[in-house]
Amino acid sequence: MSKKVFVKTYGCQMNVYDSNRMVNVLKPHGYEVAESPEEADLVILNTCHIREKAAEKVYSEIGRLKKLKINKAKNGQDMYIAVAGCVAQAEGAEMMQRAPAVDLVLGPQTYHRLPAMLNSAAEQRAGGRTSSRVLDTEFPIDTKFDHLPKESDFDSPAQFLTIQEGCDKFCAFCVVPYTRGAEYSRSVEAVVEEATHMAAKGVVEITLLGQNVNAYHGDGGDGETRNLGELIGAVADIEGIERIRYTTSHPRDMDDELISAHKDIDACMPYLHLPVQSGSDTILAAMNRKHTREEYFTIIDKLRAARPDLALSSDFIVGFPGETDADFEDTMDLVRRVKYSQAYSFKYSPRPGTPAAAAETQVPEDVKSERLARLQTLLEQHQAEFNEASIGLEMDILLEREGKMKGQLIGRSPYLQAVVVDFSDSDNALDGEADPSYTDFMGKLVRVKIVASGQRSLTGELMKTLH
Ligand code: 5AD
Ligand code: SF4
Repeated sequence: MSKKVFVKTYGCQMNVYDSNRMVNVLKPHGYEVAESPEEADLVILNTCHIREKAAEKVYSEIGRLKKLKINKAKNGQDMYIAVAGCVAQAEGAEMMQRAPAVDLVLGPQTYHRLPAMLNSAAEQRAGGRTSSRVLDTEFPIDTKFDHLPKESDFDSPAQFLTIQEGCDKFCAFCVVPYTRGAEYSRSVEAVVEEATHMAAKGVVEITLLGQNVNAYHGDGGDGETRNLGELIGAVADIEGIERIRYTTSHPRDMDDELISAHKDIDACMPYLHLPVQSGSDTILAAMNRKHTREEYFTIIDKLRAARPDLALSSDFIVGFPGETDADFEDTMDLVRRVKYSQAYSFKYSPRPGTPAAAAETQVPEDVKSERLARLQTLLEQHQAEFNEASIGLEMDILLEREGKMKGQLIGRSPYLQAVVVDFSDSDNALDGEADPSYTDFMGKLVRVKIVASGQRSLTGELMKTLH
């Protein structure tokens, strides 16, 4: 009899990729995807440790699942709870103590061992226990990438592909170097093979993922390593791959070759997430970011010279220890100068084991909240302006999913804006086809004219199909 697995994913896109991979590891072992925890035999929480709130959410979810597990047990049904990802890596042993309902704890580097772990969990349960205790948070020498089966079916023409993991930068606020370990890059061959497989299955857009993606230096197969600019060139050569994105980058690794890729490689999209965290030199130094605000501006200038229509995004932290009003004003000033098309901003959250957590100059919570609100108002204003400026432009949209209403498809612009295209609209009907089946456009690149901009998405009118 087949079993069902439900995966709940928290945090970044690397976790989204990993969640898909875990499902694919389990499929050959008889697992199907469940739509809800209620119908699942195995629930995996793929967790994020980046901020305290994200980690706490996991414990409340475990609480809910525990009740479900008890109810199921009453009906003679087995259910396993697995915690994967960065909270598992950071707090694995502690979690087994704190949350006895958890059967399995596995770190981000051990997903290929999931079936074996489930077997040992089942063996323990066979002894009559209601929960098992299986923990694997090692960093094995053999990488999980070498072991994972490939996706057989892609649910969207836009897919993530992890090319690099880990981080050696040790920003003073960040847990990633501790949870994801040292930087590791996959080989060019492995990346190209996976991307080719995706293209053959109809994938049109690939987002190359890494915690420090532009620090990529993968084995080129000839004893030399390749950088990200070169890798993007290799992926762009694959038949069927029309769009390439990459995230997340560090300003320090934004080298000239990568900047040129935005000019020279058509598939390299004019959009870049380049977190700066703060606009104050004092805070940048305290954060151990290893660059100044002027250096950041220089990179932005070079990028815009290479690709004048480039849209930028960033992450910001407000209330880092020692941040004064003047430091915060420097961040506001940087935002006004760069003008991001979208951005993410957070209150500083002390993470155990990181240098900044121990600082005595913590900023009071109310000051953090007030600064965050001001920053977000400014960022949202810029985002709205960017979206409004898109009205009247023609853009290529990759249609990825159905909209809320029948006849609507939603895709992404080159600048990562969500664009709704309504095919029931007479303006979008195709010549000679009275009633085209709009779903035929799913997964296709289409040319649209942007006609309206709303809070979260744009509206586009179809011009002609591209692909
Ligand atoms: N507190 C608040 N934000 C954080 N980030 C990382 N660590 C912390 C922390 N301790 C933010 C950074 C990073 C994004 C992924 O999360 O802005 O770029
Ligand atoms: Fe964390 Fe800094 Fe590494 Fe990014 S570069 S993962 S913020 S330590």
